[in-house]
Amino acid sequence: MKPASGPPIPINLVERVRSAQSIVVLTGAGVSAESGVPTFRDAQTGLWTNYRPEDLATPEAFQRNPRLVWEWYAMRREKVLTVAPNPGHRALVAMERVVREFLLVTQNVDGLHQRAGSRQVCELHGNIGRTKCFQENRVIEQWVDDGQVPPRCPQCGGWLRPDVVWFNEALPKAELIRATSASRRCQVFFSVGTSAMVYPAAGLSQEAFEARAVVVEINPQPTPLTERAHHFLQGPSGVILPELVRAVWGEQAVP
Ligand code: OAD
Repeated sequence: MKPASGPPIPINLVERVRSAQSIVVLTGAGVSAESGVPTFRDAQTGLWTNYRPEDLATPEAFQRNPRLVWEWYAMRREKVLTVAPNPGHRALVAMERVVREFLLVTQNVDGLHQRAGSRQVCELHGNIGRTKCFQENRVIEQWVDDGQVPPRCPQCGGWLRPDVVWFNEALPKAELIRATSASRRCQVFFSVGTSAMVYPAAGLSQEAFEARAVVVEINPQPTPLTERAHHFLQGPSGVILPELVRAVWGEQAVP
């Protein structure tokens, strides 16, 4: 089956995916690019052009300028509310429905996989739609909006912050264990829309290699993973993922 944008999906890959009992898909910001959400390595746009994510997404930056960091995330939250999942997100929902054991491990914090209908989602870097107390590290559902920016924790009065993993912060332990153990027992591992440079997420493909899984990369550009991957399907995930689902499970499986 010839994908609309590139070489056909190799038949040996089609057969391996079709027969796989356990599949892990790792996604990065590239999966949301076709929904209009900028990736991390894209230049910042608009009023944020003078900042780099690395300078804003850290506990130190938040302590230095809590208002600036809160407002950057508020802008990104607003942006995410204006976009919709794309065919790549929907193709992963279709895959989850037909594969016996499927886990979607995402580095993204935009919640678009869940909005598309994915249920088995492991959020390694948190979710921009959730807020937690900076002091107590507990998710806070409701707080008084008294105009303070950032708003204050109703329990301890400390600052509230987005429930996302910042640079120099540990990933949520349970999620990382879940992602690692799934990568160790899958037959096919997809790395989709990620520059494969940020660990420990970027280390999951090594777990899959050691489990003798087929490792497939989907990305318009090569990454540090490309030369080791068994397959490099070059192109946008919004095109390639639906083509992959069509080639493996037929037209009726494509959402
Ligand atoms: P990056 O911005 O590093 O990489 C985005 C990748 O998506 C690049 O390899 C692009 O080539 C690719 N890409 C662009 N458009 C695409 C498309 N339409 N389809 C498929 N791929 C496309 O984003 P991540 O790899 O997700 O961590 O970054 C990983 C982590 O670095 C983020 O989760 C964040 C950041 O630090 C934290 O915030 C903790």
